[in-house]
Amino acid sequence: MIADLSGKTALVTGAAGGIGRGISLTLAAQGADVAIADLRRGDAETVAAEVEALGRQAIAIEVDVTDEESIERMTRRAADSLGDLDILVNDAGVVGLPRWFDRDTPSGGDWDTVMAVNLRGVVMVSEAVSPGMKERRYGKIINIASMVSRYGSDDLPHYAASKAAVVSWTRSNAVQLAPYNINVNAICPGMIWTPMWQQIAVLRSRLDDDPELRKLSGREYFDKKVEALIPLKREQTPEDMGAMAAFLASDAARNITGQAIQVDGGRVMV
Ligand SMILES: NC(=O)c1ccc[n+]([C@@H]2O[C@H](COP(=O)([O-])OP(=O)(O)OC[C@H]3O[C@@H](n4cnc5c(N)ncnc54)[C@H](O)[C@@H]3O)[C@@H](O)[C@H]2O)c1
Repeated sequence: MIADLSGKTALVTGAAGGIGRGISLTLAAQGADVAIADLRRGDAETVAAEVEALGRQAIAIEVDVTDEESIERMTRRAADSLGDLDILVNDAGVVGLPRWFDRDTPSGGDWDTVMAVNLRGVVMVSEAVSPGMKERRYGKIINIASMVSRYGSDDLPHYAASKAAVVSWTRSNAVQLAPYNINVNAICPGMIWTPMWQQIAVLRSRLDDDPELRKLSGREYFDKKVEALIPLKREQTPEDMGAMAAFLASDAARNITGQAIQVDGGRVMV
């Protein structure tokens, strides 16, 4: 057990797969009921069934975090089904428009999309959920940023900027909500082999200066980069992010707010 979350309710966006699924299952394993929200309804239902198999309540909710009405519907459905929300994890994120990885440099549409999903989406969902938390003077908000929020990126500058903005928003929102006993923190994941990184590998292996690396499969390329860049020499997992989210969502972390915590095998040390 990482933290006791029994009796708590959580809403996780981007929860139909990858890191969001790992966080949802970890929160459920600590005793939380979880609303599984994502654009992809079918996969969200699968994850909701996995949460139920752990003995917790779950609901799958289709949402587009760039659409205010869709967010309102999500918040209402989650509360109707599970009760007042104690924990919000803003995990939904993208690197651009569909097939962004075919472009050597991000288009204007890629820039707008990452800002709409990764930044405005986080802000809008938090602003929809936090009024209920304020009323009850209790809440834990966890935003999924990225290690790339901390340094420059030659190939994904738009994504890096959106994640740096999430870290900034985390601090501002933490100050706004501190008087209401609401903690707001960010997690900065390192390298996790999810559909997102599978797409990043397509771009980076194509553009790599080293002809040997250009011949590798996406997974082999990812492994080489983990070896080269991560001091602990191993990839991170959705469950690693779940463990940090469970801790931040627990009362053991009640005096931590406005922080962006690296879970990246030592890639960034701040
Ligand atoms: N994989 C990594 O190595 C890594 C590293 C750092 C940060 N992150 C961040 O972690 C989060 C999860 O990434 P992942 O690797 O699991 O990626 P993923 O692509 O597997 O999952 C992202 C999820 O977000 C959902 N989503 C996208 N747009 C949405 C929208 N408008 N409304 C609702 N849901 C939407 C997708 O359907 C998907 O299920 C993202 O914010 C990502 O930027 C990932």
